[in-house]
Amino acid sequence: MITLFRPRAVSRTILLLLFHCLLPGFCGPVLADIPETLCPDNGSHATNSAYQDNLNELTSSMQKNASKFFEDSSGNYPNKVYGQYMCLDYVPNSTCQTCIAKGSEDLLKLCPNKTEAVVWEGSCQLRISGQEFFGRLTEGNKNQFNPENISDPGKFGLVVNETLGFLAWKAAFESPGTHYATKEKDFELGTNMTLYALAQCAKDLTADDCRKSKSSKSELLLAIRVI
Ligand SMILES: *[C@@H]1O[C@H](CO)[C@@H](O)[C@H](O)[C@H]1NC(C)=O
Ligand SMILES: *[C@@H]1O[C@H](CO)[C@@H](O)[C@H](O)[C@H]1NC(C)=O
Ligand SMILES: *[C@@H]1O[C@H](CO)[C@@H](O)[C@H](O)[C@H]1NC(C)=O
Ligand SMILES: *[C@@H]1O[C@H](CO)[C@@H](O)[C@H](O)[C@H]1NC(C)=O
Ligand SMILES: *[C@@H]1O[C@H](CO)[C@@H](O)[C@H](O)[C@H]1NC(C)=O
Ligand SMILES: *[C@@H]1O[C@H](CO)[C@@H](O)[C@H](O)[C@H]1NC(C)=O
Ligand SMILES: *[C@@H]1O[C@H](CO)[C@@H](O)[C@H](O)[C@H]1NC(C)=O
Repeated sequence: MITLFRPRAVSRTILLLLFHCLLPGFCGPVLADIPETLCPDNGSHATNSAYQDNLNELTSSMQKNASKFFEDSSGNYPNKVYGQYMCLDYVPNSTCQTCIAKGSEDLLKLCPNKTEAVVWEGSCQLRISGQEFFGRLTEGNKNQFNPENISDPGKFGLVVNETLGFLAWKAAFESPGTHYATKEKDFELGTNMTLYALAQCAKDLTADDCRKSKSSKSELLLAIRVI
């Protein structure tokens, strides 16, 4: 996602922003305008198809799974569907399951007949594909304007970029079990503000790939809040 800061007056609002870094150099915040979806025009299937049956089976096993990270496939080539989900590490199991239930529903509803789809909810991300993507840095991107007023976009962007870089490193190398990290950063932009940020990359990525996910092809689930 690309961050495009619009130079306007500062508003001191509490924001919940979601970050998704799926392509090199394209990372950015989105207001919690969820669900966000990405359903690239990269293949589709009929509603009454083996692919759809496999997809239904996969999303149903996603909803039954109690863990916060899931990776599985359903069916056989050429109708094989690969699916992955992750919940933010800090959320309780029950929140994760509620999120996945909502995400599965939204994925089927908002990306109908698509063989590739990603959906972001408040505390989880779901992804399906006809191509195997487990453990790999993969493509997919979405551009988003930051709708908030920023008095000094260059400075704010720098703070965000620096924090993202640090978080990607921390998630990769300091939290091998979860690939999850948080950071608070004080900065001045007309007034004193604090950036609260968190990042999480898919558990199946290597530490190196997780770190690179900030500036390279991968996925990083990130939320920031400015107060
Ligand atoms: C999905 O595929 C079915 C045919 O199986 C078609 O009737 C329907 O219009 C398609 N929906 C979309 C949104 O493309
Ligand atoms: C949450 O789910 C995981 C995986 O199933 C399990 O290991 C853990 O004990 C659960 N935590 C709680 C608090 O129930
Ligand atoms: C949940 O998913 C994880 C990871 O894919 C897997 O190891 C585990 O066996 C699954 N649990 C259930 C109950 O399906
Ligand atoms: C689209 O599908 C092709 C193979 O069919 C794959 O190589 C490519 O990565 C996909 N693109 C996206 C954006 O997923
Ligand atoms: C940003 O500032 C403009 C002009 O000062 C104002 O019209 C707009 O409502 C503000 N937007 C937000 C989200 O505060
Ligand atoms: C933040 O990083 C992105 C990608 O690395 C870059 O395009 C952008 O110019 C940077 N923004 C600032 C303010 O440094
Ligand atoms: C921000 O805080 C510093 C001390 O932490 C203070 O010196 C400075 O005046 C404050 N700036 C504003 C605009 O309040």
